[in-house]
Amino acid sequence: MSIIDQVIVEFDKALRTSSGTVGQTRRLSPASSIADSELSNIEQKKSAGLMRVNHCGEVCAQALYQGQALTAKSTRVEKQLQAAADEETDHLSWCEGRIDELGSNVSVLNPIWYVSSFALGALAGSLGDRINLGFVAATEEQVCKHLEEHIEALPDADKKSRAVLLQMQQDELRHKQSALDAGGQDFPSPVKAVMTGISTLMTKTSYWV
Ligand SMILES: [Fe+2]
Ligand SMILES: [Fe+2]
Repeated sequence: MSIIDQVIVEFDKALRTSSGTVGQTRRLSPASSIADSELSNIEQKKSAGLMRVNHCGEVCAQALYQGQALTAKSTRVEKQLQAAADEETDHLSWCEGRIDELGSNVSVLNPIWYVSSFALGALAGSLGDRINLGFVAATEEQVCKHLEEHIEALPDADKKSRAVLLQMQQDELRHKQSALDAGGQDFPSPVKAVMTGISTLMTKTSYWV
């Protein structure tokens, strides 16, 4: 592809990802097999806020993967990142679907998070494959922590959202392990602490808007 084609493809991905219109996925949502239960207004709002944060996290994951794949040093790692991004599309779509069922909308901040995550991913990719894969592992670790908290925080009656998050948690743990198995560096605690700070900013803002 020419540079212009590549820019158009990336722009199209960014628009579809951040606006919440990824469409068809490979796996059915784990929520689809669970009967709907009555939620109060307050519970519904809380669930929607939490699922909006998770959706925003998946938008960031997509952008990171795309940025990382763009600057990956080897074709092997680039392909691994593209395959992971494809698998993550399920998560985006499941969160979108659940937010919709809860009568809410995806975060208006998604485009900002997409652009900044893409840039961060491209930077990580340029630092070499070991750091690039290590970045995947550290990111997945952050996502797992949020998922753990959100599974706890969801209203008891919201079994559908909980089913989605439990499946995502399993997938993210696997993504983390395969990045480490493929040679990713286990990042030192200070680097992980900075990443926690950035992701806390994301969760605190996208819960509300
Ligand atoms: Fe994910
Ligand atoms: Fe993941």
